[in-house]
Amino acid sequence: MSTDSISPSPTLPDAETRSRWLRAAWHPTDQETDYEVTEIEGALPRELCGTLYRNGPNQHVAPEAGVDAMHLFDGDGMVHAFRFEEGRAWARNRYVRNECFLREEAEGRYLWNGVGAAAHPPAGGMRQQHNTNIVPHAGRLFAMVENAPPFAIDPATLEPQGAWPLDGRMVGFATSAHPKTDGRSGEMVVHGYQPLPPFVQLYSVDASGAVTLAEAIEAPYPSMMHDLAITERYAILPLCPIVMDPGILAQGGLFADAIRWEPERGMFFGVRERRPGAETRWIAAPHAAFLFHVGNAYEDGDKLVVDACTYLDPQGLLEDIRTIRSGKVGRGLRAVPHLYEIDLSRDTCAARQLDDRGAEFPRHDDRLTGYRNRYGYAVTGLEGAASGLLRFDRTGAGSVTHALGVGQMAGEPVFVPRHAEADELDGFVLSVVYDAPEDRSELLVLDAANFDREPLARLRLRHRVPMGFHGNYAAAE
Ligand SMILES: [Fe+2]
Repeated sequence: MSTDSISPSPTLPDAETRSRWLRAAWHPTDQETDYEVTEIEGALPRELCGTLYRNGPNQHVAPEAGVDAMHLFDGDGMVHAFRFEEGRAWARNRYVRNECFLREEAEGRYLWNGVGAAAHPPAGGMRQQHNTNIVPHAGRLFAMVENAPPFAIDPATLEPQGAWPLDGRMVGFATSAHPKTDGRSGEMVVHGYQPLPPFVQLYSVDASGAVTLAEAIEAPYPSMMHDLAITERYAILPLCPIVMDPGILAQGGLFADAIRWEPERGMFFGVRERRPGAETRWIAAPHAAFLFHVGNAYEDGDKLVVDACTYLDPQGLLEDIRTIRSGKVGRGLRAVPHLYEIDLSRDTCAARQLDDRGAEFPRHDDRLTGYRNRYGYAVTGLEGAASGLLRFDRTGAGSVTHALGVGQMAGEPVFVPRHAEADELDGFVLSVVYDAPEDRSELLVLDAANFDREPLARLRLRHRVPMGFHGNYAAAE
């Protein structure tokens, strides 16, 4: 039987409806709020005492062609904070008021070329929108995007504090938006990448906030390197052959036109010790693929074990990330969880697929970053089918899905332990869900150990939270 003759699932709406929902999910809001969440189904666990921060693109001043013409990665940052205390919750959200935001707001015009929509005429330099991640470290809070230094905001009020170019220690133009913080030492490791030499940079910021490492790294080619992994001793840099053309960028072209899938260059993991002055070894991976996001990594004798969400069809991915904001998604937006084993004694790398369900936005218990973990969490169904959350098992023993309703889209899952010494599954998984049929958002609190059951609590929000990228939880001091 050909696949064409199989009827679509009766629970899924038609493609036009799904497209409209997807456009609505990314549609920006100009509402900045501050209120107690009172509409709660179930009971909010009293052990939750801290704040979940989330960041995402939310353009304030629309380009001439409208916000639908923007790329998924464009848009001013907007941070949403959900504070929990004694079984109650409060919501607050603010734009990230960086220099780009303030100038566009003052002039009332879209000023910089983004990844997608063009400005007419464009201002000089790159558009910098801190919209990708929001990272607490050493008592401060940083909005992050991969083409600028971190931007500090007040953890309580979300008011701007200004750019933080690593105490003047930057050896490149930017940091990525994906630092990894050692689960034991509290040291934050972050890389930078750029289209001109040195293509990669590596930084460490210790638990007190002091910059302890800032070094350039030579890489085989200029790759769009979104994320990195760490172990107790090593940094692991995934070099995937989505290659940047610096000439197009130098001429003021759009970033989306300057990246190409060139699988013949091969995929590598750059491995180096986290100490200053260490050498980097580029170890070939067994396939050419794209890793937007890696999960956790740890050392196992001479091996480094890394889990990641792997795009085996990056050409389709590039098409989809260009068009998702206008509601068009094919099959390219589908990564599947893989486990990579890097053998440092032989300079080889093996890969194994952990599950055949789509998985993106991988997370794990942050206390185990750099150390052996068993469970990971991810969003599934991004390619347009039924959305949900996935708990996967790195032993390959099986995954568990928390299915969402038709038209609901899950945000990145963030694990919060019940208390500091709780076991790996003893805690909660938080996810902000956009409900397209109702055009509203809710925050789910799932029991990590009973992942497929009804949420412990469902917080119905008074404000709409557009689909975003990444977030983190900061326990109350
Ligand atoms: Fe990311």
